[in-house]
Amino acid sequence: MDIRQRKNLILLTHPLLKHKITLLRSKETGTVLFRELVKEIAIMEGYEALNDLPLHEIDVVTPIEKAREPAIASDGLCFVPVLRAGLGMVEGFLTLVPTAQVGQIGLRRDEKSHKPIEYLCKLPASIGKTRVYVLDPMLATGGSAIKAVSLLKERGATDIRFVSIIAAPEGVASLLDKEPDVKLYVGALDRELNGNAYICPGLGDAGDRLFGTDKE
Ligand code: PRP
Ligand code: URA
Repeated sequence: MDIRQRKNLILLTHPLLKHKITLLRSKETGTVLFRELVKEIAIMEGYEALNDLPLHEIDVVTPIEKAREPAIASDGLCFVPVLRAGLGMVEGFLTLVPTAQVGQIGLRRDEKSHKPIEYLCKLPASIGKTRVYVLDPMLATGGSAIKAVSLLKERGATDIRFVSIIAAPEGVASLLDKEPDVKLYVGALDRELNGNAYICPGLGDAGDRLFGTDKE
């Protein structure tokens, strides 16, 4: 089956999003622009991924008259970046919903095994009652995404969506095979992983590019 046809995979298509992801990939893009692009891309992806938020009616007084008009709930939403690179997407999501809670999951890939190593998991106590958006620009082998979802489920989360900027087919398949109830939003589906489990063509190491650090 063509990976693009997978249930729960939402491949985003907006031309502006595609354009900004192309700029993000370029090795000529320095840290300042990289951060700005990740924020703008997160706003665009968030706009799509939040398009089924429940609405309720509230009273509003316009200069003309009183009305009952739609509003989103001010609670029940949590954004969870996977550190480090996911941090770059938080500001964009909070631009859309400033009242959302924010948790953090810290994972780093072991250089040789490429398996995720957990170093932080700080989530709101009410995570089981909230809709969760996991934010991580890169979905490569899928190991980090699967680990993040499993940490969230261990703490009671049941409504989980995962938002990535660039994904490899291998990571998409692994995540959706392991967690078929998770909706996955992808800005660009790339060709494959290389021998170091980097996405090709990808953008290199997202954490290093976002924070201006060199590969350790
Ligand atoms: C990157 C990225 C993901 C992970 C994806 O983080 O932000 O979390 O790799 O790879 P995977 O799908 O093979 O698990 P990294 O471990 O490089 O940490 P960093 O963000 O701190 O640089
Ligand atoms: N993590 C990254 O930052 N980039 C990749 O290509 C794969 C994992």
